[in-house]
Amino acid sequence: MASKRKPQARTEPVAKGRFWPRSLHGRLVLIPSALLVLGLLGTIGVILLHAKSRISAEVTSSVQIAHDLAITALHNVADADSRSAAFAALAQDLPRVRHVQFDLAASDGTAQSTIQPGADSVTPQRASILASLLAPPPVVQSFPVTVHGKDVGRLIVRSNPVDEIDEIIGEVELFSLVVMGVCLSTAGGLLLTVRRSLRPLQLLADGFDRLEHEDYRPIADIPVAELARVAGQFNQFAASLERVTSDNHLLIGRLLSMQDHERKEVAAELHDEFGPVLFGVRAEAACIMKQVARGTDVFAHAQSIAELTDGIQRVNYRMLERLRPLVLEQMGLPEALRQLLASWQTRSLEIAWSLDVPPGLDNPNETVALTLYRAAQEAITNAVRHAEATVIGLRLARESTGGLVLTIRDNGHGQPESFRYGFGLLGMMERVRQIGGSLSVSGARPGVVVSIAVPSHEKQAMETVHANPVD
Ligand SMILES: Nc1ncnc2c1ncn2[C@@H]1O[C@H](COP(=O)(O)OP(=O)(O)OP(=O)(O)O)[C@@H](O)[C@H]1O
Ligand SMILES: [Mg+2]
Repeated sequence: MASKRKPQARTEPVAKGRFWPRSLHGRLVLIPSALLVLGLLGTIGVILLHAKSRISAEVTSSVQIAHDLAITALHNVADADSRSAAFAALAQDLPRVRHVQFDLAASDGTAQSTIQPGADSVTPQRASILASLLAPPPVVQSFPVTVHGKDVGRLIVRSNPVDEIDEIIGEVELFSLVVMGVCLSTAGGLLLTVRRSLRPLQLLADGFDRLEHEDYRPIADIPVAELARVAGQFNQFAASLERVTSDNHLLIGRLLSMQDHERKEVAAELHDEFGPVLFGVRAEAACIMKQVARGTDVFAHAQSIAELTDGIQRVNYRMLERLRPLVLEQMGLPEALRQLLASWQTRSLEIAWSLDVPPGLDNPNETVALTLYRAAQEAITNAVRHAEATVIGLRLARESTGGLVLTIRDNGHGQPESFRYGFGLLGMMERVRQIGGSLSVSGARPGVVVSIAVPSHEKQAMETVHANPVD
């Protein structure tokens, strides 16, 4: 049965945080990925901190070596022939020292040169904020160049750690790339694992969706140990629900057929017993009125008996119509609905009634017509009884697919929070189910809309019902 149950009021989960992902996939992948990225950043931070002190120590020891070499070299050129010979000897004697640059400057400012061999290696390759953060404070030492006791210039020793910084940044970059690759492949692997592990939950969710449409097929074996138990319980639950639902259908079907049987019996009594008796009373009263003179007490009593009998006959007729709507057989569903509304109209004048049936709508078969008529009766009774509606409208239409749709809409205060199915709606559902149709009862703000759809194969559906009567 495709009947839609009224959705119960749902309590929306309160969002914990704006950035907290709603999907379980997201949550299970996001946290480890965030931890990995934090770990990567932390490791890089530690490496850089360590690198700074390492560079500083290296530069200090290089400057110390350069200092010693400079003293020795200056001592060796103290007897040189000239300033230029001394400068040339210094340039030749001073060996390459990592992280240090030697400069020579003449005292009179006429000559200045960098004598550190491989000076190109001190050109910074990565002039960046990181490089400047890693660089230790510069160290500059200046020594006088003395030739035959005369000061001819200065030998300057400068710290220059850019090659070391360059090397460290290169290492950090390589390390980051490798770790980032590991992080990405870990996150990808995690995503795949989580997706595969959560697939059983999807199967369970699909199973619950199917239950809502009364499809009780068990879900397949789940290979995840933790969820296999839940799947087993779900299957047991679905099997019990199937049993209970089919018992319910059987029970409601029996109640409906009992109700129909009783209605028929009461209608027969009213028609065959009560009707003739009333007719007799009315005839007797008319007879008395003929035999006594107008204006006498007996005439007045006979007249009031006749009037009361007329009233009871009208009530009897209305009751018969409700119990066994002959008009349905004689004039078809549209006319029966019109008369149903007309009879309500006389009783509930405060309500604005409307009926929308397209002209020339062909009459459905007897059982479909009776099902729709009974549904209309129940829905109208509910709207009047429970909703305090002031507008009630009925619409019967044939859809482009060939199916019939009956809609009963009211503008009342809608279904209460404590909504419970009564026999009215359950009976309506069962009748509609038996003809292969679907029923939906939904809030319309304001009011309620009850909609019954009977598929185009209504005749086929009926044949099936007749072949399997519920007794
Ligand atoms: N049009 C409506 N507007 C507001 N509430 C409604 C409407 N129709 C149904 N209800 C709610 O749905 C409940 C179930 O309706 P249902 O017809 O199944 O049972 P009932 O009318 O209470 O009893 P009965 O068995 O006599 O029909 C009602 O009690 C009422 O609260
Ligand atoms: Mg009811």
